[in-house]
Amino acid sequence: MPAAVLEKMIAGLGSAWPAGVAVAICPPQSEPGDLYPVEEAAVSRAVTGRRAEFAGGRRAARRALAALGHPEVAIPMAEDRSPIWPEGIVGSVSHCDTACIAVVARQSDYMALGVDIEPFNPLPEDILPEIGLASELDAVGPDRRLAGRQLFSAKEAAYKAQYPLSRTLFGFDALRYDGAVRALRFARPVPPFAKGQTIPVSQWTGDGLCLSLSALSRT
Ligand SMILES: CC(C)(COP(=O)(O)OP(=O)(O)OC[C@H]1O[C@@H](n2cnc3c(N)ncnc32)[C@H](O)[C@@H]1OP(=O)(O)O)[C@@H](O)C(=O)NCCC(=O)NCCS
Repeated sequence: MPAAVLEKMIAGLGSAWPAGVAVAICPPQSEPGDLYPVEEAAVSRAVTGRRAEFAGGRRAARRALAALGHPEVAIPMAEDRSPIWPEGIVGSVSHCDTACIAVVARQSDYMALGVDIEPFNPLPEDILPEIGLASELDAVGPDRRLAGRQLFSAKEAAYKAQYPLSRTLFGFDALRYDGAVRALRFARPVPPFAKGQTIPVSQWTGDGLCLSLSALSRT
């Protein structure tokens, strides 16, 4: 699943992609030479594959920032492992084996962003109950295991988007897919989110990929 396939997929979305959200894709960087010292420190003891995906994500993030007209900066990793975006910017990073994706936007336009990229293949049957209820899987699509992959990806994107606002870690049961509104709904209060509040997630599948984007717009 080369990064070029993902790039083509996003380019093909045209106006379906949310306005004001800059995106960039890079392959994992096997020689992560362009990390800033504060970033290098975050992965100095990591295995090669982890260093490569981290560096690819940081490179993609800087390219996405440049597309917004933002100067190149370090993007440190917080203690909770979330990226620390520059003042006035919100963003998110995800990686799979061959592609690292970063999305960024101005904080004046979006409260937060969450992105997830996955290979679009069926999840193993035995982990489906952990990801969602049978009713959620049914609402996503007819193939339970593929629906599981889509639900997993949507929940990961929504989780990343809500995290900067709630700073709360929770399991997959905290968000339920509501097919009627095509959004994820909080099953319990996660302040500042109320029980029943929805988080929008857009999802695109094709060319062996499942891409989910949760963009919490201010408008
Ligand atoms: C954070 C998490 C969602 C990452 O998902 P993943 O599938 O392992 O990996 P991805 O490649 O998609 O994303 C990794 C990126 O997420 C980002 N990230 C890590 N913690 C984060 C957080 N708390 N909030 C937002 N983004 C976070 C980082 O940018 C990371 O990449 P980097 O370390 O190279 O910068 C996952 O590891 C996690 O902790 N999940 C919490 C439990 C959960 O999933 N609950 C269910 C939600 S409904």
